[in-house]
Amino acid sequence: MNFPELRMRRFRRTPALRALVRETRVSPDQLVQPLFVCPGQGLDRPIASMPGYSQQSVDLTVKAAGESLARGVNSVLLFGIPETKDALGSSGYDPKGVVATAVRALKKAHPDLVVWTDVCLCEYTDHGHCGVLRNAHVDNDATLELLSRMAVEYAKAGADIIAPSDMMDGRVGAIRETLDGEGFEMTPIVSYAAKYASAFYGPFREAAESTPKSGDRRGYQMDPPNTDEALREVEMDLAEGADAVMIKPALPYLDIIRRVKDTFRVPVCAYNVSGEYSMIKAAAEKGWLDGERAALEVLTSIRRAGADMIITYHARELAELL
Ligand code: PBG
Repeated sequence: MNFPELRMRRFRRTPALRALVRETRVSPDQLVQPLFVCPGQGLDRPIASMPGYSQQSVDLTVKAAGESLARGVNSVLLFGIPETKDALGSSGYDPKGVVATAVRALKKAHPDLVVWTDVCLCEYTDHGHCGVLRNAHVDNDATLELLSRMAVEYAKAGADIIAPSDMMDGRVGAIRETLDGEGFEMTPIVSYAAKYASAFYGPFREAAESTPKSGDRRGYQMDPPNTDEALREVEMDLAEGADAVMIKPALPYLDIIRRVKDTFRVPVCAYNVSGEYSMIKAAAEKGWLDGERAALEVLTSIRRAGADMIITYHARELAELL
């Protein structure tokens, strides 16, 4: 059968007809809202490169999470802006540190909220690298113990999901073993398995105050042209005990999301990163495109590529429309 018997436009005629044949949906409970939490009270410090986003103290973070929950976004991902930084990132695994404090407050106020914690040293080290330095290089194996301590402190505070983003080799296994040893065998790990050394993290580094003071992250994050390597990273993290894997960034790596989903059939998370958010916001501010429609189209493409869950700064604003 072909035209004129066949007319592809028949199911495009009305919103209800289009909805009947829609293959992919984005729903608020698949979205994770990142939050930047800082010490203090009543503090809201706007992030210039991320319009609509702020660093917030714990009290306002609790309020923001409540607003996300009310819109059906059940998950938040915490990043800490600590009071102090040192060479070993010790404010990151201090039980009184800003993220552990925020986790306790969030779980107390919103027991059903799913609290994800990013595990990485870069926000807490004075040099800004994701691991400890030795002779100007990031020392993989020495970093594993510190990441494991951080994960345990967050789990003790009540974190629901541990999400290591440092890209050290072997960290999923080290964290899993430490969590299990401390009685947190039911706390899942969502590993940033295929995390690329990307220009799209620019606004985040302003938001989290985590720009490396020297060099860059190409010695541990993945080289953007590589695909097979992403599959090996995912395979390795799954073998070490990751419960779900993440691809990051999302939009420039839709092919990786699809290959990982098709190959491993495990829960896949995509991180729609700060630069992806800010470029839509900037264009919308200039009146060059409809920001909401563009953001929804991007999230739809990420779901269509095979992601089950999406970490996105658009979560709360789009949840209203979904
Ligand atoms: C920390 C971390 C980064 C992001 C999430 N966790 C930044 C980086 O690796 O430099 C980026 C998130 C974003 O851009 O939204 N390792």
